[in-house]
Amino acid sequence: MLKGKNIILGVTGGIAVYKAADLVSRLKKQNANVEVIMTDAAMEFVNPLTFQTMSNNPVHTSMFNKIDKFDVEHISLAKKADMILVAPATANTIAKVAHGFADNLLTTVIMASHAKIVFAPAMNTEMYNNPIQQENMNKLKKLGYGFIQPGVGLLACGDYGAGKMAEPADIVEYVIDAFVEKDLKGKKIVITAGPTIEPLDPVRYITNHSSGKMGYLLGKEAKSRGAEVVIISGPTSLEAPKGVQVVHVNTTQEMFDAVGEHFDSCDILIKSAAPADYRPENISSTKIKKKDNKEDELNIKFVRNPDIALHYGNKKNKQIVIGFAAETDNLVEYAKNKLEKKNFDFIVANDVTKEGAGFKSDTNIVTIIDNKGEIESYPIMTKSKLSKTILDKAYLILKNKS
Ligand SMILES: Cc1cc2nc3c(=O)[nH]c(=O)nc-3n(C[C@H](O)[C@H](O)[C@H](O)COP(=O)(O)O)c2cc1C
Repeated sequence: MLKGKNIILGVTGGIAVYKAADLVSRLKKQNANVEVIMTDAAMEFVNPLTFQTMSNNPVHTSMFNKIDKFDVEHISLAKKADMILVAPATANTIAKVAHGFADNLLTTVIMASHAKIVFAPAMNTEMYNNPIQQENMNKLKKLGYGFIQPGVGLLACGDYGAGKMAEPADIVEYVIDAFVEKDLKGKKIVITAGPTIEPLDPVRYITNHSSGKMGYLLGKEAKSRGAEVVIISGPTSLEAPKGVQVVHVNTTQEMFDAVGEHFDSCDILIKSAAPADYRPENISSTKIKKKDNKEDELNIKFVRNPDIALHYGNKKNKQIVIGFAAETDNLVEYAKNKLEKKNFDFIVANDVTKEGAGFKSDTNIVTIIDNKGEIESYPIMTKSKLSKTILDKAYLILKNKS
């Protein structure tokens, strides 16, 4: 994801410096070129050798090293950086940058660079909440510097509160996100995800195998491309993507109503949920008890639920509506029928009987059919990659419309 990107990692003298080694490793795994600058205080905590080994690059520690190549180190680092990430960022370094100091290699590179500069603050809660620290951060934010919000937790000093450096995985996510083109900025995308559940009595319900993974990944990708995202989700165990509004529902009727609340204001509706087509006609108000005789049977009459895709597909005006078809046979024929009947712009069809495709898997094998009759079959790919493919296609339709 970060192939070809030069990340200068500024490591300053906070106790969270031990996490910075993990951060380098994670950035390298994303194929970034990482060069580390350490402050003198950082070197009191960790030897530069750690970062040299993790980054496979020499570590920069001083402005006044003997020049062995004919370039001025702070200028060449400043020029080559696609991003300068300071993690952990001490109160001291943030204050110096906020006031234009250039008294060590890191602050001088920051002053000399046009790259995106991002701080992951790490400090004691009292230091973090200190009005001077807050004012310094606000000043830098206004000037376009990025900040990765620290977490709340037990700090190394024994205090509990804000100031714990963001986890390396979250910092890497922020960095990747910063390089993603915001081509969906200003667009509102509504995504339905997961199964719905239809109650039989207070303790039982019927549902299906949908995990919600596809919908949540679509939400994450759309958010990182700048869209306002609402996920209307049936019950899942998934964590909401950062910055995405999740509306939790249980039944198909609730999902139908929730889509209705957002449909008029949305630009794209993606129907990746698997809502139940039927619900029990009557819901028992008490637990259904079995009888003692062996011939005991339970007959439940099911009635139709509203068809969310059909309703909103046919209601659309400016919206792009994208559907999914999970089939076990006659994939293209069923998907084409569904696309036409439900007035989708395109449909993502998959045969759930294939290995690597379907509900709980992290991969899928899909055929995308659009309303112009184009059919494209894709090889197996991760659902994360598929979410990009779907949004690329949606973006093109949006672009051609405007
Ligand atoms: C054990 C220890 C832990 C420290 N942890 C932090 C910290 O988490 N955050 C912080 O802002 N300063 C912390 N400091 C203070 C900084 O090291 C000090 O302000 C130093 O001047 C920072 O220099 P630098 O910003 O050039 O790296 C710590 C100091 C010590 C001795």
